[in-house]
Amino acid sequence: GGFFRGLKRTFYVLAIGSLGTYAYFVYQGRHPPDQLPQDPTKKTIVVLGSGWGATSLLKNIDTEEYNVVVISPHNYFLFTPLLPSVTVGTLDGRSIVQPTRHTTRFKTREVKVYEADCEYVDPINKTVTFEDRSEVKGSVSKVTIPYDYLVYSVGTENQTFGIEGVKKHACFLKELSDAEKIRARLIDCVESAAIKGQSEEEIDRLLHMVVVGGGPTGIEYAAELRDFVESDLIRWYPEVANKLRVTLVEALPNILPMFSQTLIKYTESTFKENSIDILTKHMVKDVDERDVLVKTPSGEEKKIPYGLLVWAAGNTARPLTRQLMAALPEHQKNRRGLEVDDHMRLKGAEDSVFALGDATATHFAPTAQAASQQGAYLARVFNQLARLQVLEDKLAASKKAGADASELSGIERQIEKAAKIRPFKYSHQGSLAYIGSEKAIADIPLLGNNQIASGGVVTFMFWRSAYVSMLFSLRNRSLVAADWFKVFLFGRDVSRE
Ligand code: FAD
Ligand code: NAI
Repeated sequence: GGFFRGLKRTFYVLAIGSLGTYAYFVYQGRHPPDQLPQDPTKKTIVVLGSGWGATSLLKNIDTEEYNVVVISPHNYFLFTPLLPSVTVGTLDGRSIVQPTRHTTRFKTREVKVYEADCEYVDPINKTVTFEDRSEVKGSVSKVTIPYDYLVYSVGTENQTFGIEGVKKHACFLKELSDAEKIRARLIDCVESAAIKGQSEEEIDRLLHMVVVGGGPTGIEYAAELRDFVESDLIRWYPEVANKLRVTLVEALPNILPMFSQTLIKYTESTFKENSIDILTKHMVKDVDERDVLVKTPSGEEKKIPYGLLVWAAGNTARPLTRQLMAALPEHQKNRRGLEVDDHMRLKGAEDSVFALGDATATHFAPTAQAASQQGAYLARVFNQLARLQVLEDKLAASKKAGADASELSGIERQIEKAAKIRPFKYSHQGSLAYIGSEKAIADIPLLGNNQIASGGVVTFMFWRSAYVSMLFSLRNRSLVAADWFKVFLFGRDVSRE
């Protein structure tokens, strides 16, 4: 009896303790402290973008010594690894975004955040021009500001290979609005297929979901879609949902080229079990309102009718990036993206521009993992440059005050140390992808080069907990956990806005 009473007491103490800690962090998250105002004597860092690279920089930078300005058309950070889950309503879109001000309001010195598109970077005169392109505008919508340092982290746009029909008819999967559009379009297809009198041929077309691109984006989307059909659509639309087909089209001989053969095979067999057709060596040449035109392995062209087309065929540099490259023609010749040195300094503008993430052409894969490590690295560089500035000011003041030689040489030694800035070093934490029916693949460099190809609850829970732990805030973690619980209880919502 005494033992169980003790256990019960320990349980209560732990539960109250955890709740108290949770409440404390929730309170803190909603009560940002007062900030120092911006100071015209300090250097200005302009950050372009609010994605993985920029947000990681903002999290880690000490703003005391800088005036930081953030410019991005989105006033939030989007946690892209969970974006495929938004396409079928496993997660609500709002649960995986973090308002940029939730990050910047906690910095020591005020950070300015402008919701606008940067439309011009002048690396010679060190200015950026940005424009408010949103629906509502004030009398001022276009502004040019100077910078001392520029952090260029605008990511990429979708690669369409100049196929006009793609932009017109396909859905992408990059922005939050893309995922919401896919969800609405999918349910629209199902509803239209259910209309009385629809011909078999039309039902087949409307219920054919075609995914172009066998990279991780295409694979994760197809996986989420299949889950949605199996767990929810079949229940609420029994008359049509079992006619729904998913086809993944990939130009190369393999899907997921960045994963090992074992993991590729595992994914292929899982997709086969889930009746997802994979067409490798099929290259999409054209797209119209109803059909995708593909070149088959034998070289002939074939039309594939579709209801929903999701285009996940990779990335390309944004026009702004091309324009910046054109401004530095001697140094920027890589069509893939911006060339930087091993300190993430932009070639041709090394003294003032840093570029990171997907916008750069480096030997790192264009991943969130690389961009966030680069952002954190740059923050450390800026923190170190700030320390250097403080020491240099101290040296000048000490000289002026007539300090003795040993004091001066002490400061000089500190300056020498602070001036040594190490190059960026990438540390690969592994790759993880969800492949449907509670299975995930993981390529994790544990001891040596271990690859985990497994399914079932354990891998799935690992996948979920890894992503939850990567989410930047307690708020997002709570919202995502609540969404998963909601779906566990009630299933996914099949209504459409
Ligand atoms: P982004 O995160 O794309 O940020 C670019 C920012 O620039 C955005 O805030 C944008 O609004 C802003 N911007 C755009 N134009 C302008 C402009 N003109 N002026 C100013 N700002 C501008 N990687 C992984 O490592 N693991 C994963 O599991 C993973 N899953 C993914 C799932 C999906 C569906 C997608 C699409 C990508 C995934 N990635 C994943 C890749 C990862 O999201 C990118 O590599 C990462 O976002 C790159 O970070 P970034 O900062 O360079 O660019
Ligand atoms: P990707 O570039 O990796 O894959 C695009 C695929 O589309 C390629 O395999 C390409 O051959 C194919 N393709 C291109 N044009 C085609 C055409 N006309 N017809 C048929 N197939 C065509 O792009 P993705 O998947 O968007 O990934 C981009 C980056 O984001 C990668 O670095 C990836 O690692 C990362 N990412 C990582 C995830 C994860 O780790 N879970 C999830 C999503 C993205």
